[in-house]
Amino acid sequence: MDHLPIDYTGKHVFVAGGTSGINLGIAEAFAAAGARVSVLSRDPAKVERATSRLRSLGAEAAGVSADVRDAKAISDAVTSLVASLGPLDVVVSGAAGNFLCAADQLSPNGFRTVVDIDLNGSFNVMHGCFPHLRKPGASIIHVTAPQSAVPMRFQVHACAAKAGVDQMTRVLALEWGPAGVRVNAISPGPIDGTEGFQRLIAPDTQKRETSRRLVPLGRFGSPSDVANLAMFLGSPYAGYISGAVIPCDGGGAIDSVKRSLESAGSEVAVNAH
Ligand code: COA
Ligand code: NAP
Repeated sequence: MDHLPIDYTGKHVFVAGGTSGINLGIAEAFAAAGARVSVLSRDPAKVERATSRLRSLGAEAAGVSADVRDAKAISDAVTSLVASLGPLDVVVSGAAGNFLCAADQLSPNGFRTVVDIDLNGSFNVMHGCFPHLRKPGASIIHVTAPQSAVPMRFQVHACAAKAGVDQMTRVLALEWGPAGVRVNAISPGPIDGTEGFQRLIAPDTQKRETSRRLVPLGRFGSPSDVANLAMFLGSPYAGYISGAVIPCDGGGAIDSVKRSLESAGSEVAVNAH
């Protein structure tokens, strides 16, 4: 798919969790639009593959291996990426983990792990980036999920964490707006071919088809669908948008995504008992 024809030449876009799936798709779109792009995730091999891919699109790119749960490591990583590619213009925060598990089967450490990655990790990214981003025109984009607003069985950890991400988005928009920094979130629907999709929506044809029909627009999303919204939010064309949580989900925010993900969860629960 073509991306929005917005020129990001001279801008530094940092994507936390930008080494696979939706976030890598976002990083690729910014790279193709001329930005200098940096990425961060835990697995050094994924970081290496992603930076090579971004360079193959013509971008100046850098990557660091670090865990968003480690605030000091994130602060150091961001400092080193800024030393390589310059001050930040756009930050995309999308590192996350999720799995289906009934609440009574979920260990406290399982709950804490997802909250630590999705919510505390997002704060660590914000906290590490803000000193390098604090200027009029800068833009922060969280990647949240429908679970933030729609309660879903077997995802008490991800629902709690992503709800926190949404509210953090709004509070940071209040606090950082006066510095000229916009803070928004994208809430993708089911995005085909991604890790989250594999984990939450059963891969077999029948269930895929049922899930697809539950999306009002009748198709799953692609990373490019999400990347186009990110490119818009990062640009001056979105210059009066801040504190917004914007679905990119084919219309399924309230009803269809909930039913489709819940039906995948029910299968797991039935199999587990
Ligand atoms: N069901 C129930 N509990 C689970 C689980 C599952 N499928 N997977 C992990 N856990 C529990 C573990 O048992 C452990 O708890 P315990 O110590 O009480 O046994 C806890 O969660 C931490 O697991 P661990 O494997 O040590 O975590 P990690 O930090 O290595 O990995 C995860 C984090 C679990 C979120 C892992 O799935 C991950 O790295 N995910 C990233 C990719 C992803 O989820 N992408 C989709 C984004 S929507
Ligand atoms: P993904 O490919 O697994 O992406 C997750 C990224 O985060 C990877 O780059 C991963 O790399 C990194 N990451 C995970 N834990 C990390 C940690 N502790 N520290 C640093 N980096 C970490 O998954 P995805 O499905 O594309 O999801 C991307 C985002 O979209 C997530 O925020 C998710 O909640 C959201 N979302 C997805 C869907 C969907 O349909 N897929 C729907 C709604 C919302 P490493 O393994 O190398 O760390």
